[in-house]
Amino acid sequence: MPRSIIAGIGKYLPERVVTNNDLLKYMDTSDEWIQERTGIKERRYAHRTEETTTTMGVEAAKIAIERAGITPQDIDFIVFATLCPDYYFPGCGVLVQRALKMKEIGALDVRNQCSGFVYALSVADQFIRTGTYKNILVIGAEKHSFGIDFSTRGRNVSVIFGDGAGAVVLQPATDEQSGILSTHLHSDGESAEILAMYNPGTHANHWKEEKYAAFDDAEIGQMFFSHNMIDQAQIFPYMDGPAVFKKAIVKFPEVINEALQKNGYTTKDLRLLIPHQANLRISQFVQQKLQLSDEQVYNNIQHYGNTTAASVPIALCEAWEKGKINKGDLVCLAAFGSGFTWASALLKW
Ligand code: UT7
Repeated sequence: MPRSIIAGIGKYLPERVVTNNDLLKYMDTSDEWIQERTGIKERRYAHRTEETTTTMGVEAAKIAIERAGITPQDIDFIVFATLCPDYYFPGCGVLVQRALKMKEIGALDVRNQCSGFVYALSVADQFIRTGTYKNILVIGAEKHSFGIDFSTRGRNVSVIFGDGAGAVVLQPATDEQSGILSTHLHSDGESAEILAMYNPGTHANHWKEEKYAAFDDAEIGQMFFSHNMIDQAQIFPYMDGPAVFKKAIVKFPEVINEALQKNGYTTKDLRLLIPHQANLRISQFVQQKLQLSDEQVYNNIQHYGNTTAASVPIALCEAWEKGKINKGDLVCLAAFGSGFTWASALLKW
C-alpha cells in the first residue's frame, strides 16, 4: 500500500491584525497578562462580511492545489476540519466543492476542534493508502472572531482565538521513503463539557426542570434557542482553562512519543515538531518534557493566536515556506483539545 505524501501546502491569514491592546476596549485584560499566560502578541480577524471559514479555506486550498501541480478538477475528495462552520449545516466541505467548481466528489466535515486537522489528515491518509482516491484536499479553517464573548466574562477564551486557514493536498507517494508514516487518534469524553459550546444543541439540559414537563413538542421546539441562553453566554465557547492545560501537557508528549516509538524513532531523530498552537506555555512545556531544542519545535502563536483546526496546517506551511523542512526530514504534527481529543501524525517529508 502506498503511503500518502503532502504534495502541496497552503495557508491563508486575513489581513486585519488585532493586537492585545486592541482588545482592551471590550474587556478587562492587558497585553502583559495575555503575553505572560499565552505568548500571544496579536491575532488576525477575518473581514466581517467578505470572509468566512469557507472562503479562507478556499484561499489556502488554491495555493495547496497549485503547489501540487494540479487543478481543482483533479481533486477527488475533500476533508474539512472546523469548529465554526459557515452554517450549522451543511458543512464547509460542500461549499469548497462549489466555490472551486470541482467535480461531484465526496466532501466530509470533521468536528474534532483543535485536533481536527490531524484527524482529517488521518482520514485522508486511509483513503490514499487503500487506493480509493489520488488527490485529497484536507483543510483546517476557523473564523473564531464571529463567535466569541468579547466581554470580560469571556476573556479567558476570547483573547486566545484567531482566524485563519491551512490546507494540504495528499497524493500517493512515488518513493518508498517519504510520506505519512502513521497517525494516532485518541479521545476521552469524560471531560467533554469543560471545553465546549453548549448551544444550540439537542442536549436539552435547560428543559429538564419540572416546570417544562408540561410543554408540548412545539413549545419545546421553539426553545432550541432562547434569550436565556444568550443572556447566560451559552452560545459562546466555554473553557475551564487550567483543567485543559493540565491534561494537554500530559497528552501532547504521550501521543508524540507514541508516533516516534511506533516507527522506531526517538526525539533525537525529529527535525521538527509542529504542535497545535494552543498556548506558548503548553508548547514550551512539551519541548522541555521531550528535551527538544528550540530548532526542533515550531511556534507561531505569537502572531496568529490559537486558530484551532487551522493552527497545525498554518504552522506546517509557514515552517516549510521558511525552509525549515526539507526532503527526508522527520516531522511530527500533534494536537490536543476539546473532547478531549488528541492526535499525532509522523511524516517523512
Ligand atoms: O486549543 C485547545 C484547547 N485549549 C487550550 O489548550 C488552552 C489551555 N488553557 C490555557 O491556555 C490557559 O488556562 C488560559 C490561557 C486559558 C488561562 O490562563 P491561566 O494561567 O490558566 O489563567 P486562569 O484561567 O487560571 O486565570 C487566572 C486569573 C483569573 O483571575 P483570578 O480568579 O485569579 O482573580 C482569571 O479571571 O486570570 C484571570 N483572567 C484574565 N485576566 C486578564 C482570565 N483571563 C484573563 C484575561 N485577562 N484575558
